[in-house]
Amino acid sequence: MRVEILPDAEAIGRRAADLVAAALGRGDLRVLGVATGSSPSPIYESLRRMRLPGWQDVQVFALDEYIGLGPGHPQSYRSVIECEIGRPLGIPAERVHVPDGDATDLVAACSSYERELSEQGGVDVQILGIGVSGHIGFNEPGSSLTSRTREVSLTEQTRTDNARFFATADDVPRRALTQGIATIAQARRHVLVARGAHKAAVVRAALEGEVSSACPASAMQRFADLTVLLDPAAAAGLVRGRVQV
Ligand code: F6R
Repeated sequence: MRVEILPDAEAIGRRAADLVAAALGRGDLRVLGVATGSSPSPIYESLRRMRLPGWQDVQVFALDEYIGLGPGHPQSYRSVIECEIGRPLGIPAERVHVPDGDATDLVAACSSYERELSEQGGVDVQILGIGVSGHIGFNEPGSSLTSRTREVSLTEQTRTDNARFFATADDVPRRALTQGIATIAQARRHVLVARGAHKAAVVRAALEGEVSSACPASAMQRFADLTVLLDPAAAAGLVRGRVQV
């Protein structure tokens, strides 16, 4: 694990985008795994600004999707990903994969998502954010470290945190589909981004605490190639080695 501390959102976005761009330039980015939410937005903004060639051949896989919003809802993760990277980078819609939170058979939707992911050869670079509850994707506390794509309940903490994207707190869906921890772990490389003092405790628990389903993000300690990009506030709780950039 390499932990880098960068001054602000823009610097974190640029650094993560450079890592993604380098993989694309080397021909090592057939499949990009994307998170949604506030943390990765500056990465996508940097990638949009870079105007790199080659995106039309990349497959994109989302980590998760709300159940019941429908793909056309502006806060569905399909809409957010299409809007932040799919359309602006010129990635054809059929190459943007998001779990189908609107399916009548959610179990089948999860199996088919896992199948699509493995048919595409797995994720080369996975971008991750971390929730205050200790989730990556929507793997809330108690999620097995061997979990695969499945239906989950969101904690009240996560619903409250995500209420800022909706008209009222009640509009935040209670359930979602998410890649499991074992699914996420299979990516060849991971880049975690986190900012702000409200993330300091969970960043410390995830990176330096016990590896346990009580904090599913702690599974990242076992990822073979993990780069962590933090601002000083999010890094404030860390006591082990880190690289000041
Ligand atoms: C969403 C996802 C979540 C978010 C996390 C942090 O696709 O993967 O794990 O990354 O909830 O969200 P922000 O960045 O909005 O604090």
